[in-house]
Amino acid sequence: MKNGWFQKKLRGYASLQGYQKPQKYTGVLKLDSNENFVIGKQYQQDLIHNARKISDVREYPLGRAEKLVNALSKYLKVPQNMIGIGNGSDQILDLILTNFASPQTRVLTSEPTFGFFEERCKLYSIPTTKIPFSKDMTLDLNQFMEKLKNSDILYIDSPNNPTGFQFLRKDLEKLIKKFEGLVIIDEAYGKFGDYSLINLSKSMNNLIIVQTFSKAFGLAGLRLGYFIANKNIVDVFSRVIQYPYPLNSIAIEAGILALQKPQIISDTTNTIKKERKRIIDNLRKYDAFEVFDSKANFVLFDAKGADSHVFTAMIEQGISIRKLGKIGKHKGCLRVTVGTKEMNSKFLLAIRDLLG
Ligand SMILES: Cc1ncc(COP(=O)(O)O)c(C=O)c1O
Repeated sequence: MKNGWFQKKLRGYASLQGYQKPQKYTGVLKLDSNENFVIGKQYQQDLIHNARKISDVREYPLGRAEKLVNALSKYLKVPQNMIGIGNGSDQILDLILTNFASPQTRVLTSEPTFGFFEERCKLYSIPTTKIPFSKDMTLDLNQFMEKLKNSDILYIDSPNNPTGFQFLRKDLEKLIKKFEGLVIIDEAYGKFGDYSLINLSKSMNNLIIVQTFSKAFGLAGLRLGYFIANKNIVDVFSRVIQYPYPLNSIAIEAGILALQKPQIISDTTNTIKKERKRIIDNLRKYDAFEVFDSKANFVLFDAKGADSHVFTAMIEQGISIRKLGKIGKHKGCLRVTVGTKEMNSKFLLAIRDLLG
């Protein structure tokens, strides 16, 4: 290779934006990253405390991830050889892209979609075709159907981040069954949605369903992700592609402990769904907003060009939400995480103060 290749490559990367994390504000209600605060902080601290007691961090976690897979297998009712793990679902998505995609493989996804996935495609020069959301923030199945033949990888977050949209189950199944390339269904928010496609992965050899402990389980800081797929995919991924020790011992043990209390997960998920409805119903009272349905633990709304104003007003009231700006025909979109009842009330009061 010619001299200077490295600087050229570096300049190419420098021109990219990278994944935009929310700004860090101190002492504010953090409703900007779709985290789960409904699950108690003390409950999670006890979980970590117990995980620490079990772990011997002088050792590599040899055989420990297999224990986590075993616990997931029982929880998901899926055979162990159909489950793989990763350092957050981010890392799983990244490893799939670096090993199965290239500048020659074409990705079909929605516009918008999960920002990290999009940025990774840019980083690796993977061409993407994006089907835009319509004005009512839904996706048109037929547009996807038409583009399938020119695509190698289909990536759909179900429900979608940041819109909260989820295809009807029969539509998504129809789309997937028609496609012979690699299908990645990102169910990071699946527990808040209407369905999961886990069962479909039992009969397909090109479907990867990615899930995470970050949302419904409220363990975003531990970086625990997993996926469900055909056993040949899982074998290659776990034996050849994945790092030898992608998860730390304490995270593994905490994950196993969390899976022993499925009731806590379904209770908090139900609370979040109820609170989601309350937020949507309340925000819909204001003509200043257009509020979209959501199947996730957040709500997207269009402040019709006043997004910066609403965002700043919320920060001044000690609440951080996510400013997303233009999405399709909508000029000023904002996304708010569904928090605890108290957090949501504080947010809704702040909105009332601003607009009421
Ligand atoms: C659609 C989607 N997929 C995956 C992730 C990443 O989750 P994890 O914390 O497991 O890396 C997110 C995080 O916000 C997400 O929105």
